[in-house]
Amino acid sequence: MAGEKDDFLKLKHIKFFERCLQVLPGRYSSLDTNRMTIAFFALSGLDLLNALDKVEKDKDRIIQWIYSLQILPNEDGSNICQCGFRGSSTNAVKDSQKTEDKLRLDSGHIAMTYTAIASLLILGDDLDRVNKSAVLQALSQLQQGDGSFCCVPEGSENDMRFVYCAACICYMLNDWSGMDVEKAVHFIQKSQSYEGGIGQGPGLEAHGGSTFCAIAALVLMNKLETSFTPKQYKRLQRWCISRQQSGFQGRPNKPTDTCYSFWVGATLKLIDTYQLSNVECNRGFLMETQDAITGGFSKWPDHTPDALHAYLGLGGLSLLGEEGVLPMHAALNISQRASKHLNNLHSNWKN
Ligand code: FPP
Repeated sequence: MAGEKDDFLKLKHIKFFERCLQVLPGRYSSLDTNRMTIAFFALSGLDLLNALDKVEKDKDRIIQWIYSLQILPNEDGSNICQCGFRGSSTNAVKDSQKTEDKLRLDSGHIAMTYTAIASLLILGDDLDRVNKSAVLQALSQLQQGDGSFCCVPEGSENDMRFVYCAACICYMLNDWSGMDVEKAVHFIQKSQSYEGGIGQGPGLEAHGGSTFCAIAALVLMNKLETSFTPKQYKRLQRWCISRQQSGFQGRPNKPTDTCYSFWVGATLKLIDTYQLSNVECNRGFLMETQDAITGGFSKWPDHTPDALHAYLGLGGLSLLGEEGVLPMHAALNISQRASKHLNNLHSNWKN
């Protein structure tokens, strides 16, 4: 008989995500500029738990807050490459402090634009107030010659994470004018390492996070089938399934971590290999990282839970079919319910 430690504490997790939307402990202060991602984890977490009714009364206010962080084109369009969403009002330049230098740094961030649009979808918004053309023009400016993306226009690291964010944005807006797909596919192909998994870029170590970003981006671009030779694809499958210990690790010889039950688990789903994983061992590890007092999941057993691991742990449970967790659209990292809403929007946009 399943012991208490194996019980999935759904109500505690609902409370955990509700708290993430209201007030966070001081240790989150360094994430102040990335509030949008925390909001996404909490909203998508509540969605997976079929508990969005908990935010029903605040829904319009949250939608309003997300739109308030959108940077719109100015009259002469000179700020077009800065358009998109900020992660927080902390980053916005106040009217009284507007100087050219400060304005130049006040730009959208590719991960915030992705999580802002995904959060709007989860809340049932119709994306009518997203300035799609500005978002896509700004996105195309972030793509580099090698096909990868930076995250902000003033220059930043460029890697697989931002290729994934760019693919999500184009997919959700149903418009691929924001990226040169062929170049992005080439970047991904060049990033498959000798191990079989995919790194953040060419010549870099294969990692579960970057492998998810690469494969999910290819799925969203509808390019998975044509991007690998059969031999490369088999090596990818083998590398991914070999990441299971009890839960999953991100790379060989590293400890298992809750987030990889989603990053690697979702990749395995997308490459049709999930059925080879040991679901019981994976669930057993996730239950060890569940916090029975506060709800949420931590990175490792007996550690403090956080919003990212709570959401991705829940994602891992969704993939393995946990009762009480809604199924996910593995590539888009949202519920299938939210992705159906997106499909309906796309049909309406065509008419
Ligand atoms: C390794 O750190 C990195 C992570 C735990 C994050 C991996 C996830 C991604 C790259 C996907 C991000 C996706 C988006 C959309 C931004 P580490 O070296 O401490 O971990 P490790 O020891 O497990 O390798």
